[in-house]
Amino acid sequence: MLFESNRVVLLLALCLPAVPPSTAVHGEDSSADRGYSVLTEKATLTSDFTQRVFDQVWQVWPEPLRTKAERATKEQRREMAFDRYGLTTRPGDDSGKPLQYVVDDDGKWTMNCLSCHGGSVYGKVTVGAPNNRFALQTMTEEIRAIKFRLGEPLSRLDLGSVVIPLGTTHGTTNAVVFGMGLMSHRDEQLNVIPKIPETFVHHDMDAPPWWNFHKKPSIYIDGFAQKGHRALMQFMLIPENGPDFFRDREDDFRAVYALLDSLRAPKYESVIDKEAAERGRAAFESNCAECHGYYGKEATYPNRRIPLADIGTDPVRLTALTVAGREKYGRSWFAHADTDTPHKTETDPDGYVAPPLDGIWASPPYFHNGSVPTLWHVLHPEDRPTVWQRTDQSMDEEKVGFKIRELDRVPLAEKDPAIRRSYFDTRRFGKSNSGHNYPDQLTESEKQDVLEYLKTL
Ligand code: HEC
Ligand code: HEC
Repeated sequence: MLFESNRVVLLLALCLPAVPPSTAVHGEDSSADRGYSVLTEKATLTSDFTQRVFDQVWQVWPEPLRTKAERATKEQRREMAFDRYGLTTRPGDDSGKPLQYVVDDDGKWTMNCLSCHGGSVYGKVTVGAPNNRFALQTMTEEIRAIKFRLGEPLSRLDLGSVVIPLGTTHGTTNAVVFGMGLMSHRDEQLNVIPKIPETFVHHDMDAPPWWNFHKKPSIYIDGFAQKGHRALMQFMLIPENGPDFFRDREDDFRAVYALLDSLRAPKYESVIDKEAAERGRAAFESNCAECHGYYGKEATYPNRRIPLADIGTDPVRLTALTVAGREKYGRSWFAHADTDTPHKTETDPDGYVAPPLDGIWASPPYFHNGSVPTLWHVLHPEDRPTVWQRTDQSMDEEKVGFKIRELDRVPLAEKDPAIRRSYFDTRRFGKSNSGHNYPDQLTESEKQDVLEYLKTL
């Protein structure tokens, strides 16, 4: 699973920020609106592909999908492509543009932060919700194939993805390695330097929801980096963006920070059994709140890091980021926002930070690697599925999370990569669904009550 770093750099072009203001997602804050515009309208990476390429990508799809697309209208084909790759339109905007890409007047598409951080909550497009349907690997492979056919130039992502895995299961990506790869070509002041030879441990992660950003003093699952607007800029470290690029964009990223800070979790809209939820609150407060905090009027968030040996979830993410890498980050421009005093950087964290559970019903799958499909399965460690596939975009209201089917193993004969990558196999590297056995302290009826309570957060 080790790969050479300079190639990783090519990929990072992905993570650029882009585009426009949605309505009603973040209240009255005008700098937050500007942050949304920055993300959706301002490309900060080199572009990935053109509208012409996207419109023709169906020609490389496997049958019977290709024939279906051929017979469809242009509009239906576009919908099919959005569906296949986990793209959505923008809330409150009838331009038809994707939330996840900046599309400029020349029809050039450039990935933005919302490709991973803007998804749909059981079919409802939501800025800041993890894009749990994003098919980055499949989309990149098929875009590359149609470019070959059309004789269009390849982008850095097209090239990089030949050697770097972008994500092995839809909805999760190798994003952390993208960031590490980019930084290995820079000194602390972000000058481009000859790459430092380094190997990276590729592993997929589920993006966290942005609506908890306002509660967290530090970010990432191990909480290693203090939050700040510069910390949000790492993904733009492609070689084309020199040190001045970052200084010039600081104001844009203050606005992006304001956007993240303004977001709040969506409210559960279906039925809640109030009495069960109230009993569940008591059980939660005795068994879970010490790590996940209290909710309601007197909300608290303890920001507690739990040693790996105790939490027992997949260890790969923790060990993939090296102490030296975190130290370098701590000395870098990113960790010195608005002050000469460095931000706090935890260079050798021993485990994962318990996240706030606001809107937890809306951000499946669960744990940092997205290995557990529902809250019921979080609460029943023994019954978690080894291999599972999401079957429908709507919510499983009983188990609260994805509707899934369980399998013994991924069907090897499946030829469509988009279907192959819709299976989550927890036996693969970095994908374990083990650990977090704290719910074992609850009786079965307490678990049902806690499940009901979790819907209210
Ligand atoms: C390719 C997918 C991808 C893209 C693109 C991406 N992110 Fe992320 N982001 C992730 C993943 C995965 C994590 C979890 C990393 C971890 O915890 O180690 C993350 C974590 C974060 C966090 C920490 C959240 C928390 O609660 O700890 C913030 C903030 C964030 N990203 C902002 C951004 C911004 C701003 C951009 C655009 C400049 C961006 N991301 C682009 C995948 C992505
Ligand atoms: C000792 C601390 C601790 C206790 C007690 C604890 N948790 Fe957690 N919990 C964590 C940590 C740490 C994680 C992150 C694990 C990971 O992603 O690898 C987590 C993750 C979760 C998640 C998934 C969050 C997400 O965004 O994917 C849920 C849901 C959850 N816990 C619910 C509970 C419930 C319900 C209880 C009580 C029965 C509980 N936890 C008790 C530490 C704790």
